[in-house]
Amino acid sequence: MLQIGDDVMYFSAVFLLVVLATRSPTAASLLTAFLYVFMVMFRFPPLPAEQAGRVLRPRSPSGGVPVVANRGGSYDAPENTLAAIREASRNGATGVELDLSFTADGVPVLMHDETVDRTTNGSGPISKLPFVQLKRLDAAARHRLKDKFGGEKVPTLQEAVEECVRHQLTIFFDVKGHPDKAAAVLHDMYKKFPVLYNGSIVSSFEPKVIYKMRQTDPRVVTALTHRPWRLSRFGDGTPRSLTVWSQLWTGVLDILLDWAHHHILWKLCGISAILVQKDFISHDYVQYWAERGVEVVGWTVNTAVEKDYYQNLLKISYITDSLLEDCNPHV
Ligand SMILES: *[C@@H]1O[C@H](CO)[C@@H](O)[C@H](O)[C@H]1NC(C)=O
Ligand SMILES: *[C@@H]1O[C@H](CO)[C@@H](O)[C@H](O)[C@H]1NC(C)=O
Repeated sequence: MLQIGDDVMYFSAVFLLVVLATRSPTAASLLTAFLYVFMVMFRFPPLPAEQAGRVLRPRSPSGGVPVVANRGGSYDAPENTLAAIREASRNGATGVELDLSFTADGVPVLMHDETVDRTTNGSGPISKLPFVQLKRLDAAARHRLKDKFGGEKVPTLQEAVEECVRHQLTIFFDVKGHPDKAAAVLHDMYKKFPVLYNGSIVSSFEPKVIYKMRQTDPRVVTALTHRPWRLSRFGDGTPRSLTVWSQLWTGVLDILLDWAHHHILWKLCGISAILVQKDFISHDYVQYWAERGVEVVGWTVNTAVEKDYYQNLLKISYITDSLLEDCNPHV
C-alpha cells in the first residue's frame, strides 16, 4: 500500500511542478503520464522475497546476523584472493564481497583498484595488463601478513566462484563499471553455477550496471550501493574539489542522486537490497526500506562496538574488513 501512496505523491509533485513552471495543465498531464508509462514499461519487478531471503539471510554459523567479508576480508588476508575466501570461511563469515575487474585481454579477475600497485608487486593499470603478466604477480606482496600468505595469485572470477561454492559462502559481486561486459560475464557464471541464484547478489554504485544485469538475466538478485555525498566528498568527509563552484555543483548532484536512489532507481532496477555506508544507517532508515521490501546492508563495519550495534539493535547484516579484530576502514 505504501508504495502506491508513494507513487501518487511523486506523480502529483511532478504534475504540480510542471504546472507551476509551464502554466499549462496539458503539458503537465502529458509529462506526468509519460513518466508514469516510462516507469511501468521500463522497471524490473523485484524478485520473490524467498529468493532474496536465501541470499541475504543465510543461516549464520554463529546464529547471528549474516557477516560478509569485504574483499574476502582484506585485514585478515590479502584482499580478493582465494586465500582470503578460505580464511573468511574458516573465521565464520557467511559471505564474501568480491570486486570484478578485467585484464587487458578481457579476462574477468578479482581486483579492487584500477591499478595493481596497492596490492601486488606489479605496477600500472590492470586494463593495460594481459592476463599472463598479471598471473605472475604476487597478490600478497603488500599485505601485512604477506609472510603467511606467500605465493598468492590474483584469481580469475571463475576460480573465486568455485572456491566460494565449495565453502558455501554467499557472494556479493561488486561491479565498478563495464555494464555490458560485466553483465555478460556474470550471466555466464550463473549459467555455469546455478546455485549462484540462491547464493549471490550483484551490487554496484552505478544504477546502469544493475539495470543492465537485470536486463541480461532478470533472475539475478541485485543491490545498489550508496554513500550519501559520494560525488562531492571522500569517504572520510573531506571535500573532493578544489574550487567552490564545482564543490557546490557536485553537492547539488549528490542531493539529486540521493533522492533518486530512495525514490526512483531502486524501483526501476527492482533491487532486493541497498548497501549503505554505515554512518547513514539508523533504525528508521532500515524501516524505510523494509516497508519497500528492500534489505539494508551496512559497510564497512570494523569495530566490536559497531558490530554489536548491527547484531543486537539494527539486526541487519554488515560487511567488514576483519572477522577477528578491530581495524581501520579503507577510505
Ligand atoms: C612479483 O613476485 C613474484 C613472486 O615472488 C615474482 O615471480 C615476480 O617476478 C615479481 N614481479 C615483479 C614485477 O616484481
Ligand atoms: C533455490 O532454492 C530453492 C528452495 O530451496 C529451490 O527450489 C531452487 O531450485 C533453487 N534454485 C537454484 C537455481 O538452485
